[in-house]
Amino acid sequence: MSNIPFQIQNFEQYQQYYSQSVEDPEGFWADIASNFYWRKPWKKTLQWNFTEPDVKWFVGGKLNITENALDRHLAERGDQTAIIWEPNDPNDDAVHITYRQLHQRVCRFANVLKKYGVVKGDRVCIYLPMVPELAVAVLACARIGAVHSVVFGGFSAQSIADRINDAQCKVVVTSDGAYRGAKEIPMKAVVDDALVICPSVETVLVMSRTRTPVSMIKGRDRWLEQEEKYVTAECPAEEMDAEDMLFILYTSGSTGKPKGVVHTVGGYMVYASYTFANVFQYQPGEIHFCTADIGWITGHSYIVYGPLCCGATSVIFEGVPTYPDAGRLWDITDRHRINILYTAPTAIRSLMGFGLQYVEGKDLSSLTKLGSVGEPINEEAWHWFKTNIGKDKCPLVDTWWQTENGGIMISPLAGITPEKPSYATLPLPGVQPVLVDENGNEIEGNGVSGNLCIKFPWPGILRTTYGDHERCRQTYFSTYPGKYFTGDGCLRDEEGYYRITGRVDDVLNVSGHRIGTAEVENAINMHLGVVESAVVGYPHDIKGQGIYAYIITEEPLNDADLTRKDILATVSRIIGPIAKPDKIQFVAGLPKTRSGKIMRRILRKIAEGDTSNLGDTSTLLDPGVVDEIKAGAL
Ligand code: WT7
Repeated sequence: MSNIPFQIQNFEQYQQYYSQSVEDPEGFWADIASNFYWRKPWKKTLQWNFTEPDVKWFVGGKLNITENALDRHLAERGDQTAIIWEPNDPNDDAVHITYRQLHQRVCRFANVLKKYGVVKGDRVCIYLPMVPELAVAVLACARIGAVHSVVFGGFSAQSIADRINDAQCKVVVTSDGAYRGAKEIPMKAVVDDALVICPSVETVLVMSRTRTPVSMIKGRDRWLEQEEKYVTAECPAEEMDAEDMLFILYTSGSTGKPKGVVHTVGGYMVYASYTFANVFQYQPGEIHFCTADIGWITGHSYIVYGPLCCGATSVIFEGVPTYPDAGRLWDITDRHRINILYTAPTAIRSLMGFGLQYVEGKDLSSLTKLGSVGEPINEEAWHWFKTNIGKDKCPLVDTWWQTENGGIMISPLAGITPEKPSYATLPLPGVQPVLVDENGNEIEGNGVSGNLCIKFPWPGILRTTYGDHERCRQTYFSTYPGKYFTGDGCLRDEEGYYRITGRVDDVLNVSGHRIGTAEVENAINMHLGVVESAVVGYPHDIKGQGIYAYIITEEPLNDADLTRKDILATVSRIIGPIAKPDKIQFVAGLPKTRSGKIMRRILRKIAEGDTSNLGDTSTLLDPGVVDEIKAGAL
C-alpha cells in the first residue's frame, strides 16, 4: 500500500466511519478488505452466530497473507528496509533487511519446511529468540499454508511440550541458544527436554545464534544454515481460503491449561493491518518499533503482520530494555530514528525508576507517536512517557485488546481522537463494546461500569480454540449469551470513554503477561510435600500485578526459605520463570466455604495488605484460619 486508503484522517471522519461500521458492518469491512491482494474475491462478507459460535469473514475469498506482506511491495519498495534487527549487544551491528531480501529468505525457509514434508495445514512450533529468523519462520509457514504456533522463549520444556502435543506439531524451529541481557540462555536443550514426550515431531530445524554446544540427533535435528544452502529462493505462495487457519497462539485462562487461540488468514490480515494503519496513523517511510516479543500476540500483529502488510519498516529487538543500561530503548530510538514506539506500562514503570539520566543526551526528536499495551497504564507512567519520551509533542495511544481479538479494539487514533490518561478511550470503527451487569443485562448510558463484552463480530475475532471448540464457546460466548465476553471489567465515563479496570476472572496480568491462577496452583501442587495452594494477584509497583501464593504443606518446614526456593524452581520447571510467585506464605489452612470453595476475595484482600474490612466471613467453614493467615501475611 503506498498511501493507505482506509486511514481515518480526522475526528469527524472517525465518527462517520464509526456510524457506518455499525449501520452496515459488511459494507464497511468489504471496503477495507478490497485494498488487499486477493487471488479470488469473497462471495459473502460475513456469516456469523455467537451461539456455536461460528464466525466467517470474506467467505470464499482466496489469498496468501505473505503476498500481501511481501510480494505486493516488491515493485514499489523492494529495496526499502522491511526489518531492522537490533541485536542484544549494542556493540554488534544492526541488520537491515529489505523487502526483497525478506521475500527471498522467507521463500528459502519455506522450501526447507517443504523438504521436510510440511504441507498446508501442518502445525509448526517456533521457539526462537528475537532474531530475524523468527519473523522469517512465521512468514515461511504462512507462505506454504502451515499453521505456526510460536512459543515465547521464556516458557519451560513442559510448557513447550504441552503446546506441541495439543497442536500435534510436525516440525519445531529453534536455535542453539539465546542472548538476553547479560545472560546466555539454552534453547535447543530446552526443546530436547520437551521432545522426550512429543511423538508428533519429526524434524527440528536449529538456527545457530550462540553456537553453544548442542546435541543434534541424526534423522531428527538439522542445522538451518546447512539446509538453506540446498534450496532455492523461489517458492510460490499456497492459495489459502480466507478462513483457513493462519496460526495458533496459546494463552492462559481462568481454568486448566492454556488454550490455543486460532486466527484465520483473511480476517486477521485485514484487522491487523487496519488497526496498525489507523491507531498509529502510520505514514509511509516511518520506522515502527514495537518492543513486545513475537511470542505474544502484540508481536504477531504489530511487529510482523500489521507493519509488513502496510509496507512499514519494523524493528526486531533481541535484548531487554535494561541492558546494558536503562537507556537502551532511548538509545535504539536515537540510533535508528524511530518514529513509532509501542511498549508496555511495566517497561515504562521500570525505566522511570532508574531516573532521567538515562533519557538525557538521547535524541528522541524522530518520535511521532507513542503507544502502550498489555495492562492498565497508571497516570504517573502515562505522563512520564508522554512528557519525557514524547516531549509532549507525540500522541500517546493506550491500546486495549487481547490475544483473542487479533488486533487493537479500544484506543485513541494517534492525533485524531482524544486522549485521556489511563483510559483506552473509544472503540475503533468496527468494534461494538457493551457493558453488562451480573445478570447479563446491557448497561446503557454513561458514567457506568460493568463487564466488558463485544456484541458484534470484527474480522480479527478468534474462530475457535484449537481442538476444543466447546471450550471456546464456554469461555467466551456462554457467560453472556449472544455476546463475546472479554473477562475484563470496565468503566464508561460521563463522556463515553472506556477505562479498563482489570480482569474479573482468575487471570493475572504480571508485567503484561497473562497467567492463570489455576495454572500456577497446579504447578505449585506438583511440588513434593505440598497439600494445597491458592494463588492471587496483588498490586505491584512495576509488574502491575505480583503473584501471591498461600501454600499448605504436609509437615511443618525446617527451612521455609529453602522450601520457597524449591517451589520456585518447580514452578519455573513446569511453566517458566514468568510464573514464579513473588510471595509465598505457608499456611495451616485456607478460607473455604462449607461447600469447599476457596474464598479468594479474602485472600486477595490480605495479599493487598488491606485486612481492615474482610467482609462477611460467616459462611466460612473455619473462620479461625483467616486470623492465622492475617498474622502471617507478607
Ligand atoms: C488482557 C489481554 C493484546 C495485548 C497484549 C496482552 C489486559 C491489555 C490493556 C490496556 C488495560 C489491558 C486486559 C486483557 N490489557 N491491554 N491497554 N489497558 N488492560 O494480550 O495476553 O491476551 O492479555 O490484557 O486485561 O484482557 P493478552
